[in-house]
Amino acid sequence: MRITLSVIKADVGGYVGHSDSHPDVLAKAGDCLSRAKKEGLLVDYHVTKCGDDLELIMTHQQGEDSEKIHKLAWDTFVGCTEVAKKLKLHGAGQDLLSDAFSGNVKGMGPGLSEVEIEERGAETLIVLMADKTSSGAWNMPLYKMFADPFNTIGLVIASNMHAGFDFEVHDVKEHKKITFRAPEEIYDMLVFIGAPSRYMIKAVYHRETKEIAAVSSTQRLALIAGRYVGKDDPVCIVRSQGKFPAVGEILEPFAAPILVEGWMRGSHMGPLMPVSIHDSTPSRFDGPPRVVAVGFQLSGGKLIGPRDMFADKSFNLARHQANEMADLMRRHGPFEPHRLPLEEMEYTTMPEVTKKLEERFTDL
Ligand code: F6R
Ligand code: MG
Ligand code: MG
Repeated sequence: MRITLSVIKADVGGYVGHSDSHPDVLAKAGDCLSRAKKEGLLVDYHVTKCGDDLELIMTHQQGEDSEKIHKLAWDTFVGCTEVAKKLKLHGAGQDLLSDAFSGNVKGMGPGLSEVEIEERGAETLIVLMADKTSSGAWNMPLYKMFADPFNTIGLVIASNMHAGFDFEVHDVKEHKKITFRAPEEIYDMLVFIGAPSRYMIKAVYHRETKEIAAVSSTQRLALIAGRYVGKDDPVCIVRSQGKFPAVGEILEPFAAPILVEGWMRGSHMGPLMPVSIHDSTPSRFDGPPRVVAVGFQLSGGKLIGPRDMFADKSFNLARHQANEMADLMRRHGPFEPHRLPLEEMEYTTMPEVTKKLEERFTDL
């Protein structure tokens, strides 16, 4: 059975500040998608949140880039924005960059990760969602899942994974893409994906079967809008088990928290802390950045789940370490490497201050 999984997300208003989502907004999204399911447009759906981001997880048979599905998501965000406005939630409708829908949510503000697949005998899926960070945050975890044998032992001992995976990498600045073969080209690939603010892993494919294994959202709101409009809190769909990494191999990279871009005003480096959905409430200095993971088994397109994967106690130490790292970074206050490097501050007050002081800079 061909089935498409669309994960479409937007921040349509935060409660309180940018720290969480309001239950009424989630309920409104549930109403909209429930209607679409009754009408037969959706096979199934699950509405959830990661911090202030509203996450629509939908299955259907309309294929990728379907105008009907994208319009459904857009209309849902518009409806939820009305609820957010009524409650005067913070930044109501902030990710809807246009007043009118024009056929596809790409480039309009919401984040999107979509994949059309042939449902396997047992189709295990993990949906990763993060808040207070950006798409490049998936680079190292995806690399570890699909190219690092110290993380994924299946690459060594599972005959159906031993051939490796192809990585599609996007240059979001130049709007170019390239595909790297792992393991042969990992050194070339790391030159690029080690700079995750510009080069982002968009998708991963099984080398032998060419089947898609993972797909991420690579929108960068700042680049879309030309000014700072918040980080594009990313999502990523990963297929699991069989010829793909096991659930534990997908979650393992998050057991060792890394520093990612985002956090306060989208302008800082901070640890990516794996948490349960319930704990995706970035509060300390508007963070630190969070990642949640929900797992499903697909059955005829029905989403059997979710299981809240990072609720597991085995991630307690990672959370503790992430909080220690947060403390260490906070010590730097407005200094790098806590604050982002100059190039990344382009969309903040940096250009204004530079312009204001232009005259006062004299030659050395
Ligand atoms: C970061 C984020 C927050 C806000 C900050 C200021 O992604 O969402 O840290 O940048 O709370 O928010 P505004 O400008 O909406 O008052
Ligand atoms: Mg927000
Ligand atoms: Mg957010």
